[in-house]
Amino acid sequence: MSAARGKGTVAIVGGAGAVGSSTAFALMDSGLVGEIVLVDIDDERAEGEAMDLDHGAYFTSSVRVRTGDYEDCWDADVVVVTAGASQNPGETRLELMERNAEIFAEIVPEITAGLNDDAVILVVTNPVDVLAYVTWAVSDLPAERVIGSGTVLDTSRFRHALSREFDLDPANVHAYVIGEHGDSEVLVWSSANLGGVPFERYCAHRGVEDVDALKSRIGDDVRNAAYEIIERKGRTNYGVARSVTATVERILGDDDSILTVSTLVDGQHGIEDAYLSLPCTVNRGGVRDVLEFDLSEAEQTDLEESAAVIRESLDRLDL
Ligand code: 2OP
Repeated sequence: MSAARGKGTVAIVGGAGAVGSSTAFALMDSGLVGEIVLVDIDDERAEGEAMDLDHGAYFTSSVRVRTGDYEDCWDADVVVVTAGASQNPGETRLELMERNAEIFAEIVPEITAGLNDDAVILVVTNPVDVLAYVTWAVSDLPAERVIGSGTVLDTSRFRHALSREFDLDPANVHAYVIGEHGDSEVLVWSSANLGGVPFERYCAHRGVEDVDALKSRIGDDVRNAAYEIIERKGRTNYGVARSVTATVERILGDDDSILTVSTLVDGQHGIEDAYLSLPCTVNRGGVRDVLEFDLSEAEQTDLEESAAVIRESLDRLDL
C-alpha cells in the first residue's frame, strides 16, 4: 500500500458529488485508508468537500482527505469512479447510458494511463454493469481488477427487508440479488435462508400464510428502493456509499469476502461477455473467483433476461 503508515490510498473520481463525498465520509472511519483523494471536474466544490471532510479527520483514525487530478489516481490502491449524471425522478439507470458512456470514454484513459499494476477500479456510476464493461474494454486491464459496485447494495436491501420482516439480526439473513443493478435484477429466493433454515421452511415456522405475496412485496420493495428514494430526495447516496465502502474495505483488507459485485461473466449460468453481478470472492487482487448457484428454472430464465438487457445496451455502444 502506498499511503502513510501502511494504509491504503483511495482516489474517488467524481469525489465532489453526493455519492463520491458520502463514500469519502464513510471511508474515513474504516481504519484501512490513509489518504482519500477527491478528483472532480468541479475543482472548487471538490476543494470544499475535501476541506470539510479533512477537518473531521481529527476524530477518525489518521486519514488525510485532499483533492487531486487524474494523475493522482495512478498511485491509488483503489480508484472508485462515481463521476457522471445520476438518475432524475422516474428515470431508469439504463437511460443514463449514452451520457455516462461518453464521459467514461474520456476519463478512463486518463485514470489508467499510469495506474499502478495492483490497483483495483471500482465503478459505481450507473448503469453500473454497462459502465464497468466500458471501463474494462477501454482500459484493457485484467477483468478481475475492474469491478462494478453491482448488486451489493440490492443484496443489502434484500437482507434488510427480510431482517425487518422477521425481526431478525441481519447477520443471520443470507440472500442474494444477482444480475443487473437495475430493473431486471433477480432475487435468489431458492437459496435464501435465515440462520441456515431455507426461506420457505422459515416462513412455515413463523406462520406466514401467503409466501408468494410476501416474496412479491419484498421483490417490489428491493427493486423500487432507489426510485422511491429519488422521488423523495432527488438522489440516493448514503446506502450506495456504505455498500461501496464495504467493498473497498474487503479489497484493501484482502478479506476474500463474498460480495455480489459486477464482474465479467465468462460462461457462468450460460452467460458470456457481459458485466453483471454474481457472488464473487473479493480480495486485494479484485475478483478472485465467481460463484454459481443452483438456480430454479424461473430464476435462471430471469437471469438470462437480465443479461440480455445489459447485452442489448452494450450493443448500442460503439466499443
Ligand atoms: C441505488 O440503487 C441509484 O443505483 C442507485 O441507490
